[in-house]
Formats: sequence, C-alpha cells, structure tokens
Amino acid sequence: MSATPIPKQRTHTIKEALMAPQSTGVALMGWIETKSSVGGIKFATLRDGSGYIQIACKKDRVPPKAFDEFEKASKETAVVVTGTVREDKRAPGGKEISVSNFAILALSEKWPITKSAARASSSFLYDMRHLAIRGRKASSVLRIRAHVIYASFDYFVKNGFTLISAPTIVQNAVEGGSTLFALDYFGHKAYLSQSAQLYEEAAIAAFGKVFIFQPAFRAEKSKTSKHLTEFWMIEAEQAFANQEDNIRLQEGLVKAMAERVLKDCSEELQVLGRRFKFPEIPFPRISYDEAREISSKSGLNFEWGDDLPTEAERLISKQFEVPFFITGYPLSSRSFYHMTEDFNDKVTRSADLIAPEGYGEIATGGQRIHDYNTLMNRIKNQELPTESFDWYLDLRKYGMPEHAGFGIGAERVTRWMCGLKHIRATSLFPRTISRLKP
Ligand code: 4AD
Ligand code: MG
Repeated sequence: MSATPIPKQRTHTIKEALMAPQSTGVALMGWIETKSSVGGIKFATLRDGSGYIQIACKKDRVPPKAFDEFEKASKETAVVVTGTVREDKRAPGGKEISVSNFAILALSEKWPITKSAARASSSFLYDMRHLAIRGRKASSVLRIRAHVIYASFDYFVKNGFTLISAPTIVQNAVEGGSTLFALDYFGHKAYLSQSAQLYEEAAIAAFGKVFIFQPAFRAEKSKTSKHLTEFWMIEAEQAFANQEDNIRLQEGLVKAMAERVLKDCSEELQVLGRRFKFPEIPFPRISYDEAREISSKSGLNFEWGDDLPTEAERLISKQFEVPFFITGYPLSSRSFYHMTEDFNDKVTRSADLIAPEGYGEIATGGQRIHDYNTLMNRIKNQELPTESFDWYLDLRKYGMPEHAGFGIGAERVTRWMCGLKHIRATSLFPRTISRLKP
C-alpha cells in the first residue's frame, strides 16, 4: 500500500470536513485536544478553531512512522492529518476521519493546565491565560463576544450609522474624575479615555448618526465581578433624537445581538450550559423611584439622589428575566452633560439598561444638553474646568439640535449572555486592579 504523502497545506478546515460527504479525502491541520484508545484503534479529537473532529488511526492502515507520531503527539501538539470522512453516529458531530497519514508539525510539552492545578489556585487559569484561552469554555465565551460585536456593526450599518474612531489619549473626564488613568503627555497631563461620547457629539453634526467601538479605561479601585480597568465599549449617538428614540435604538441593538448569538453560537452556549430568555421589544421599564421602592422592600435603603448601589441593582436585576430599563436617574448621580426633565430639573432624561438574573447594568444612555447657556451653567455649577470643555461647548454655538446616545459594554453583554460569575472571562487578556499580566 502506498501511503498518502504528507501535504504542505490543508484542503479543508474542520468545519468544512464536518460538512463534507462520506468518503471525501481531506488534509486537516490542527491541535490535539484529547486522545484515547479503544481495542487497538487510536482516537484523538482535533481542533483548529473552526470546530472539533474525531480522528481514528488504525496501525495497519497507516505507514509505521505515522502511527509512531500519532502515539507521540501529546495534547496541544500541532499536527497534519490526511484521511477520509466517515459518517459515524457515535462520533461528536456525526463524522470521523479515518486517518491515512499523520505527522507532527510542532510537538507540545506536557500541558500544564490540569484540573488539579486550577483547583489549587484561583488565579492559576488567569496566570496561564495565554494557554487557557484554547479551552472549550474559554474560547466559547470569546467567540460569543465576537458575535455580539459583529451584530452591533451589522445593526448600526443597516440603520444608517457611520463608524467613527476617536482618540483614547484625552484631556477631559467624561464620566467624572475618580476613575481616570493619568499619564504624562510631553509634560502635559493627559488621561486614558473613559468614553468617546464627547467626540461622537461633535461627529453627529457631520454624519447625523454615528457609532464607535473602542477601548475605554477606568481606574476602578474596587474588586468586583463586573469591572475591568480596560474594556471595549460600543457607543452610538444620533442628532435630531430624544431619549425615547435612544431607548428604541438600544432595544433594537440588544435584540439583534441576542438573535445573532442564538443563531450562530448555539454550540458555544451548549458548551457553557447556558440559556437566556430572548429579549422581545419593548423591554420592561421601571423608574428610578420604583427601583428605590423595590430595593427598600428588601431592606436596602438609599437616599433619593444617590446612584443605585451595586447590591440594589443586583437585587432588582434578579427579579427580571429579560433586560429592562431603569429611567429618570437623579442629576446628582449622573455626569454633567445630561439633560433634565421639563417637569423636574433634578431628574435626567437618562436610563440604564440592566441585564436580568443579577448581571446588572450593561448600558447607560441619555439625552444631552444641546443649549449653550444651559451647558455652560452646568459645567460651572459642577465646578468643572471650562477651559478643557471649550470645544465641547463650542459645538452648542453652531447648530446643535436635540441629540441622544448611549454606551454599552461588550464584555458586560457577553457576561450576561454567557451566564458568567466574573466579567474577566469575557476578555482575551483581562485587565483588573490586580492583573496586568499576561
Ligand atoms: O455607564 P458608563 O460609564 O457611560 C458612559 O461612559 C457614557 N458616556 C456612554 C455614552 O452615553 N456614550 O459606561 C457605559 C457602559 C456601562 O453601562 C457598562 O456596560 C460599560 O460601559 N462599563 C464597563 N464595563 C466593564 N468594566 C467597567 N469598569 C465598565 N465601566 C463601564
Ligand atoms: Mg453607567
């Protein structure tokens, strides 16, 4: 029997091989995930990022060298396999590759990530994140995050929004000074951006409707399960729009994200053992005052005017099965740019979008002050440095209509959809108060 030569290139990805008919000849490249042996037949699961497939190697069907290499190939070894597709109901995915030749491309040392090592230290999997991301659970979360983001791009482009970029080295605080990372910018003080919102507000006068997807930085000094110090925010802003338009835009976006994940990530959700209830439009809404009442009924009281305490938010969020809005936050709990209601100048036209089941806030949005004098007074009242906001104020001199927008955290949405205890699992290499490596 003449052996199939070892190819230099693959003919199929695993995903393609899983769709190929019986007897198709394939050359695959991938990494060994697991190995086993049943009655003299050697099995392995191969993965290549597109999927997983079982390969079966029989000693009398392959050249001796191929069989040796198959035996030598440890977990995470990169390999090339030739063979034919065989339908097999017992194999995961219903297909198996009968191996005709096999070679090692890059041998892996003994894989350090073991269940016992992970159990021994809570930080182990994150110290080893550069390797741990190959795992089924870790990679499923990251793939779901990718689809959340694809969905947002599709949604905004379809709805006539223009993608913009904005600087991440900035001069002013958007969300208050307490979470700014300061840096030295050639002798001047600069900060890492907390939000691109102010730049979006400039851009709407050029494009009407804009969106942006870029990192945001917050020097969050507390250890929580929902804060990263670097995360990616999807933000949108529209001219000639009020807070009601803004809420509708968010509902459409989150629905589109959920549709996309349910359609394209069913295997990933299965790996995570996760189901979430589909968010139908309109989403439920409660007012800040109602949120306070619900919280107080559970014995958690806070002053009118304070931001919702994390514990109250969690408690209320647990009472919902789908995302919902909390509307009408007090001005004292919001950033300077928020527009207030005509009927009460202590209440803003703003809302937070809260994920259910205890996951909490995923988006914040609102209508912005578009009048020059109102904004100037607000900046002065809050004792903010008018000079760093001169350009932002300037926008109000040159035809600034009603406008509104929001920011939604890609990792927060992913955390909710994946049903994760901690947000760090949604980031390829998370940054938190205690982690800067790898
Ligand atoms: O609520 P935030 O601070 O709102 C803003 O930055 C507005 N300027 C956005 C806008 O209107 N354009 O942040 C928006 C969202 C939050 O709802 C949350 O999803 C996410 O960004 N976020 C974080 N995600 C992970 N870690 C953190 N430390 C986060 N801080 C905010
Ligand atoms: Mg917020």
